[in-house]
Parts: sequence; structure tokens; C-alpha cells
Amino acid sequence: MYVASILALALVCATQTHGFSEKAVFCQTNALNQATYNFINFIGFPGAWSQSNASALWKTYYPLAYFLNQQVSATPGSINGFYTVCNGFEQLWGMLLGFGNQNCLTAENLINGMTVDPGTAFSVVGLLNKYKFICGAGFYTLLRERNIDCVQRVIANFNTTFALCLATYQANVQHDPTSACRYIGDFTSCNALVFNTSACTNGNNVDFWWGCEGSLQFALAQFPSCRHARSCTINRSPFGIGGFERELMEYSKTHYKFENGQHWFKLPDIFKEINGKWVLSENDWVTG
Ligand SMILES: *[C@@H]1O[C@H](CO)[C@@H](O)[C@H](O)[C@H]1NC(C)=O
Ligand SMILES: *[C@@H]1O[C@H](CO)[C@@H](O)[C@H](O)[C@H]1NC(C)=O
Ligand SMILES: *[C@@H]1O[C@H](CO)[C@@H](O)[C@H](O)[C@H]1NC(C)=O
Repeated sequence: MYVASILALALVCATQTHGFSEKAVFCQTNALNQATYNFINFIGFPGAWSQSNASALWKTYYPLAYFLNQQVSATPGSINGFYTVCNGFEQLWGMLLGFGNQNCLTAENLINGMTVDPGTAFSVVGLLNKYKFICGAGFYTLLRERNIDCVQRVIANFNTTFALCLATYQANVQHDPTSACRYIGDFTSCNALVFNTSACTNGNNVDFWWGCEGSLQFALAQFPSCRHARSCTINRSPFGIGGFERELMEYSKTHYKFENGQHWFKLPDIFKEINGKWVLSENDWVTG
């Protein structure tokens, strides 16, 4: 039974492609431009934009991703950045929904309707998914646990490591999409472990849950059927620590060290070309 369910999961992942149907998604270009223009102005995203070309924002990943990271982490301890970004998204979704254009920002429309390359499209939609979490359950948890400043410091101080967690994940799903669920497991551990360095709440540190869930939401944009391959749930009981936390503790034994006053992370295994063959190989230790 157990083996059968694992096989079933692997098959579901294996058939996951981005081959959408030919039928076009409903999206009015004007509505997307208008809602995006409003979003750009509201969050203060830099650059020359107009009502007629704002939707080009969704055609590249890194500028927006870095900007949002910067905004939410700019002032540790202050929630103003979160408010600006999250209210901006709230308005964006409201405007799109109001026009009946909520499917404009799906991977399907970005790829087929706006000719964005699939890799970028899934990253952009992943980023949107991640911010739905960050602005929803993620935000309320940070407030409740009063560790917003720790999370902000990690976002600001480890962006190289996060970028490399992402690059590793993307290289792996590109070379071996049939094992996407496995690489999502690595990707979420890679992110969660960095957040666990911000151990500044007393005993009830949930930062790594935050890092896990945000990166999981990102990845599910492309591989929704991997939802059950990773649970970020923290499972503490009088009998000990279980669930994701236990898994991450195991992972950290081989992927984390503190040396010369710095946190070091070993990136998950990555596909490398060795003697003309692509093989999953050991990856580098990184910091910062
Ligand atoms: C959008 O249009 C404005 C005004 O016409 C122009 O200055 C800007 O370069 C355009 N931006 C993009 C991203 O195409
Ligand atoms: C780190 O973030 C800054 C903006 O906040 C960006 O310009 C830079 O390219 C990022 N670097 C990496 C490696 O992620
Ligand atoms: C997180 O870090 C703390 C402090 O270094 C450590 O005790 C704990 O085991 C870590 N938790 C996980 C899940 O890695």
C-alpha cells in the first residue's frame, strides 16, 4: 500500500508538463495593463511605465522578486513594507477580479497569451503564489510569533544563498522533471534551513516553517501535484519532534555548519555535466 502510493505520486509528477490546451485564456490586455500600472505605482516599482505597457512587468522575474524582497525587509521590525506590498497585491487582484480577468496572471496566459518563456512564467506565477502566502497566513504567523524582524534580516542578509537554492532547483527540474517532487523537497529544505539561522525567538521558532511554506507555494505553481510530497507542518508533541522539523534537523546535519563566525549552507545536489553525461552531483558550500 505504502509503495503503491509512492509510485502513484511519482507518476502524477511524471505527467506534469506545461502543455496547456490550445484554447486561449480570457484576459483583456487593457485591464491587465491598468491593474499592473496601478500596482507598479502603489508599490513604487522603479522604471518608466505607462498605462499601455505596464503588463511587461510580468515578463521578467528577478527585478520584481528582488524589489519585493527589498521592500518587505528594508526596515527590520517595521511592518510598513509588508503593508505596502500586500495592499498593492490586494488591489491588483481586486482590479483583475473586478474585470473578470483573474486568469491574466496564470502561467497559461503568460506563456500562450504573452509569449513569456515557460521558465520565467512559472517563476513569476510562483512569486505571486509565494506572496499570497506571505501576505496571508505567513504574515499573521509572523505577527503572532513576533519574529518579523528576524525573518526580515534573513531575507536581507542571505539573498545570495536563496538565489542559489532557486538556481539549483531550477536546474534540477529542467534536467529531470519527472522527479520534480523530490527537488521540491530539496528546495524547501534549502530555504527553510537558512531561515532557521534566525533563532531569535525563545524556543518556539517557526521561521523555518515560514521559509518552507513560502518556497513550497512558489514551486507548486509549476508542479501542483507535488503538494503532498512536502508538508511544512511542525509536529511537536510531548513525545518529541516530528514531521518537517525532524526532517530538517536531519538535513541540517549534512547541509549546515557555522565556521569563522558565519553560517554556511551546502546546496542540494545538482545536475552537472561530467564526461558528457548529466549526473546529480554534490553541490557547493555557500554563505550570505
Ligand atoms: C513604457 O512607455 C513609456 C512611455 O511611453 C516609455 O518611456 C517606457 O520606456 C516604456 N516601458 C516599457 C517597459 O516598455
Ligand atoms: C540581492 O538583492 C539585490 C537587491 O536587493 C539584488 O540587486 C542582487 O542582485 C541580489 N543578489 C543575489 C545574488 O541574489
Ligand atoms: C534550528 O536551529 C537551532 C539552533 O541552532 C537548532 O537547535 C535546531 O535543531 C534547528 N532546527 C532545525 C529544524 O534545523
